[in-house]
Amino acid sequence: MSHLNVRSFAEDANAEPGVYSASNGVAMPHAYEAQRVGTEGPLLLQDFHLVDLLSHFDRERIPERVVHAKGGGAHGTYRTTHPIPDLCFAPLFAEKTECPITVRFSTVGGESGSPDCARDPRGFSVKFRTKQGNMDWVYNNTPIFFLRDPAKFPHFIHTQKRNPQTNLTHGDDSTQFWDYMGQNPESVHQFLYLMGPRGIPATWRHMQGYSGHTFKFVNKEGKWKYCQIHILSQQGTQNLTNDEAAEKSPDEHQKDLFSAIERGEYPKWDVKYQIMTPSEAIDAGVNVNDLTKTWPRDKFPLQPLGEIKLDQNVANYFAEIEQVAFNPAHLVPGLEPSNDPVLQSRLFSYPDTHRHRIGVNYQQLPVNQPNPEHKHVNFQRDGGMAFYNQGPRPNYISSLAPPKFLQRTVDLDAVHGDYEGNAISFLSGVSEEDFVQPRELWRKVFSEEDRQNTIKNISGHMSTCTDKGILANAIAVWHQVDADLAAAIAEPLGLKGKYKTDLREAVFNGSHNFLGRDVGT
Ligand code: HEM
Repeated sequence: MSHLNVRSFAEDANAEPGVYSASNGVAMPHAYEAQRVGTEGPLLLQDFHLVDLLSHFDRERIPERVVHAKGGGAHGTYRTTHPIPDLCFAPLFAEKTECPITVRFSTVGGESGSPDCARDPRGFSVKFRTKQGNMDWVYNNTPIFFLRDPAKFPHFIHTQKRNPQTNLTHGDDSTQFWDYMGQNPESVHQFLYLMGPRGIPATWRHMQGYSGHTFKFVNKEGKWKYCQIHILSQQGTQNLTNDEAAEKSPDEHQKDLFSAIERGEYPKWDVKYQIMTPSEAIDAGVNVNDLTKTWPRDKFPLQPLGEIKLDQNVANYFAEIEQVAFNPAHLVPGLEPSNDPVLQSRLFSYPDTHRHRIGVNYQQLPVNQPNPEHKHVNFQRDGGMAFYNQGPRPNYISSLAPPKFLQRTVDLDAVHGDYEGNAISFLSGVSEEDFVQPRELWRKVFSEEDRQNTIKNISGHMSTCTDKGILANAIAVWHQVDADLAAAIAEPLGLKGKYKTDLREAVFNGSHNFLGRDVGT
C-alpha cells in the first residue's frame, strides 16, 4: 500500500505495459520511426510522433536545487509514542497518532551528480501528511550551522561551490572555502564539526537530524515554550574517514537506503525534543536565535516524542524525490517559528525557489499535495500546470457558496509577540562566546584519535589553498579555539608561528569584532 494519499506511483509502475502512443494518446505502430522523403531525403515537419518525442526529451531537465542538489529518500510513517497535549495542541503531537511521511536526505554543496560520501553536512527533510495539512521539517544532520546572519548565506554557499573562473570545487582549490572561515569566525563551530569524526556519515540510516533552529510549541491555552527537535537514529551513528569515503561508490548512500528497504530492514529514528521557557533561556545564558550554538543537554534534557520509520521505496525517483518540495514555513498550528533571523529568511526562500524550480503550482504535484480527503479549498487559480483548478467553485469569497472557516481556538497572534521599534541594521558580531562550544567539542567530546584525524583533515584540505594570507587568517581563528590545534594544523603547511595569536584587533570583512569587549553576540 502506498504511503501517499494521492495517485499511487506504485500502481503506475505495476500497470500492464499498455499500448505505445504519442503524447496525445494516438497509438503508433513503432517507437523507432521517422517520416522522411524517400530513403535518403530530409525529414517531414508533419511527423508529430518524432517532433513530440524529441521536443519532450529536450525539456526533460528541471533546474536542480541550488543547494542540497544530490539526494535520495523514501516513504514511511511518523508515529507519536509520547503525546504532549500540555505542550502542543497540534493533534499530531497531542495524541497517540500517526501519519504518512516522505523523507529526503542530501549533501549540501555538490551538484546532483556529486558523490554521496563527500565531507559536507547532510540534509534531513521530512514531509508529514497530517489531517491538518502538510508540515515539513527541513533539518540537517548537525545541530548547528555556519552562520546566524541570513544575508551571509548566498556568500557562504558560493564559497562552498565551484570557483567562478577555474570551475574547480574546494577539493582542488580550497582558497575561497578558508577565506570564508577566516573572515566569519562564528562559523568555526560548524567547520570543526564538519572536519571532525562526524563529517562523513557512513549511511543516511546511521545519522541524526536536528531542527537546529528554535521553534515554539503552543498548547491549547495559547501558552508556549521554545523547543528544539532531535531525530536520533535507532541504527546508531556511523561515520567514515576520508580514506574509507574515497573507496565508496558515488551513490553509496542512495544504494544503501534503497537496498536496506528492499531487504525489509526498515530504518527507524526516535524523535525527541528539548524545551525551554524565555526566562530559563535568560537564566541559562542561551540565545535561542543563535543557530551556531546548541542548547546544553544537561540543563535541557531530551524528551521522547515519537518515531520515524521508512519502509517504502519510491516507484519513481523524479516524481517522488526530485519534485518533492520542502519548506520550513509549512507548519501546522501548534508548532510555530521562533524569531531566529536565519529561520525567518528560510520561511521566504524555499517556496520562492520552488516556484522557480518546479513551477507556481508545485503544491499540486502528486508528492506535494495535501491529502485531498481533507477537503481544502482556497482562491488560488490558474498559472502553469493548474491540474487541480477547483472546478466551478467561485474564485472569490462569494456569498452564494462561501468556504467554511476553521474556528480559531488559540490566539496565535499573542504567541507571535508584540513588537515595536525602529528599523535597525542587523549586526553580526563575533565574541568570546563563539569559541566556548567549539573548544568543548575539541577538548572534551573528540577522542585523541578524532583529534589527530581532524588535524589531518583540516591541514590536508587547506593544502590546496593558494593564498598564505588566507590560510594564516583561518589558522588564527583555529588558534582562538585551541592553541595546540592551530599549531598542529600550521606545521605541515609551513605556517608555524606565522599567524596571529590575538584576534582582538583583527578586522573581519564578515563579522564585527567584539572579541575582548563586553558585548553579546
Ligand atoms: C535546501 C535556502 C539554511 C536545510 C535549500 C534550498 C534553498 C535553501 C534555496 C533549495 C530548496 C529546493 O530547491 O527545493 C536556504 C537559506 C538558508 C538556508 C536561504 C539560510 C538563510 C538552511 C539551514 C538548514 C537547511 C540552517 C538546516 C537546519 C536545508 C535542507 C535542504 C535545503 C535539508 C534540502 C531540502 C530537500 O531535501 O529538498 N535551502 N537554506 N538550510 N536546506 Fe536550506
